[in-house]
Amino acid sequence: MWNESEMLHYLQENLSDKRFRHSISVSETAVSLASKHGENIEKSRIAGLVHDCAKNMKSFELIKMASEHDIYIDEVFQNNPSILHGHVGSIIAREVMGIFDQDILNAIAYHTTGRRDMSLLEKIIYIADYIEPLRKISGIEEFRSLSYVDLDAAVIKSLENSIEYVISENQLLQLDTVGARNYLLIKNRR
Ligand SMILES: [Fe+2]
Ligand SMILES: [Fe+2]
Repeated sequence: MWNESEMLHYLQENLSDKRFRHSISVSETAVSLASKHGENIEKSRIAGLVHDCAKNMKSFELIKMASEHDIYIDEVFQNNPSILHGHVGSIIAREVMGIFDQDILNAIAYHTTGRRDMSLLEKIIYIADYIEPLRKISGIEEFRSLSYVDLDAAVIKSLENSIEYVISENQLLQLDTVGARNYLLIKNRR
C-alpha cells in the first residue's frame, strides 16, 4: 500500500486545490468522528483522504473505467456520471494505491450515494464529507453536533437533504440513497 505522502502527491496532482484541501479536511473530520464512535483511526484517516481521488475525472473517463470494472451504469449514472466518482475512486484506491481493505474501499465507493446497511466506517466518511469545516452550509453547526451524538440520525438527515436537493434540481434519485434511508429508518424504529 502507498504511504501517506504518496497518496498526498497523487491527490495534489489529480485534484483542484480546493478539492485537495477538502480531502485533508474530510480526513481530519473522519478521524475525530472515529475516535468518538469507536472506529479504527488509521482506516478513517486513509478513507477520508482518498474518498474524492476520482472527483476531477471527466464523465467519459468515469464511465469508461466503471464499465471496464463491471460496474453497472444504470440510468442515474448515465444521466449524471459525476456520481460515479465514488466507485471509480475505490478502483483507483485498490489498483493504483494498493489499498485492499474492503471496508475502506466500500467507504470510498459509497460516499456519494450511501447504501443499505452501511458499516460504521462508511457512515463516518459519508458524514465527514458533509460536515468538514470548509463546507459552508446553513445550519451546519447543529448538524455537526448531531453527528457526534447520534451518527445514524445525522446520516438519515443528510440522506434526506440530498434526496430533497436532487428533487429540487429535477434530477434522478439514486436508488442506493433511497435504500440507505429506508434501511436506517426501519433499523432505528425497532
Ligand atoms: Fe465525493
Ligand atoms: Fe468529498
